[in-house]
Amino acid sequence: MSRVIDVPGSADFESCHDELNEFRRDVLAGLNKPQKQIQSKYFYDEHGSELFNQITRHPDYYLTQCEIEILNNCKNRLARLLGSHPFNLVELGPGEGIKTQLLINEFLHESLNFNYLPIDISKKYLYMIINDFREKQPRLKLTPLHADYFRGLEWLRKNSQNRNLILFLGSSIGNFDPVITLEFLHHLCNSLNPGDYVFLGFDLRKNVDVLMSAYDDIDGITRDFNLNLLKRINRELNADFNIEKFGHYATYNVYTGAMESYLISMEPQIVTIEALEKSFSFDSIEPIHVEYSHKYLPSQIDQLAQETGFVIVDKFTDSRNYFMDTLWQVKEQK
Ligand code: AVJ
Repeated sequence: MSRVIDVPGSADFESCHDELNEFRRDVLAGLNKPQKQIQSKYFYDEHGSELFNQITRHPDYYLTQCEIEILNNCKNRLARLLGSHPFNLVELGPGEGIKTQLLINEFLHESLNFNYLPIDISKKYLYMIINDFREKQPRLKLTPLHADYFRGLEWLRKNSQNRNLILFLGSSIGNFDPVITLEFLHHLCNSLNPGDYVFLGFDLRKNVDVLMSAYDDIDGITRDFNLNLLKRINRELNADFNIEKFGHYATYNVYTGAMESYLISMEPQIVTIEALEKSFSFDSIEPIHVEYSHKYLPSQIDQLAQETGFVIVDKFTDSRNYFMDTLWQVKEQK
């Protein structure tokens, strides 16, 4: 039976106290800025994660369907590429794990010798994955790592010599700003061994109307997902945001190629956050920036590989050319 491995030193996720402190610090810093802001990582409390899962099943949010199509089309190629030696299938932030199951089923079907290591800072998801696979794929070798990504990869380097295939799916990378993206990829490259593979999901630039409905779906799930951030602050930091007086607004920045999401105060108002012992005033139609979702040109994706120590092995897109998964390999000579 699989057990979750707690990788020591992985920040302070063990202690709710520290987590809450960090949330408090970040909300204070973000709302004190001249242009108010809260980081998108705070969307994902329990209800927020559930809403996000609903978004991924909504037809307007094309990203998930596209990546499922891609994975179904390239899983056999990946199996052939990796199958000759034992390997680790490592996933950064597995979430519900539905997409990865497509690969895992293929690899098991082809009787490949591999270990699946999902890395997440949420223990809850890791336990869900254990339960899920115990039922569906009891043959799977599973080693869930409770860690932040890079501590998890450090643990892996010490504990296995096998070739790695790292999955970072779903355009999660799109939330990073361009500088952080480069840093992240450099760090990823340096955490791996020459010859290791990474498989990354990027959302591509496309018709703006398609983008707009993906981040403002017709059924208002994305709206609820965004507003849930204020509910979380109300609950965890004892604030009095009136959700009715805030709206969700998504827009596409044609110069940076990013979808940008905002929560907008519909009228002048003052909000008190007890845990910060502070009140914040909002003008009419004043925004709080809550998320970037960067969209890429294929050439920019290639450039990222070249700048961060990888060789491009293959690229896969869906039939509409909306999304790209790219397969890179860590250079033999870094
Ligand atoms: C989880 C970061 C890939 O940016 O598309 C979905 C989050 N935000 N709808 C994205 C999200 C609004 C999503 N990622």
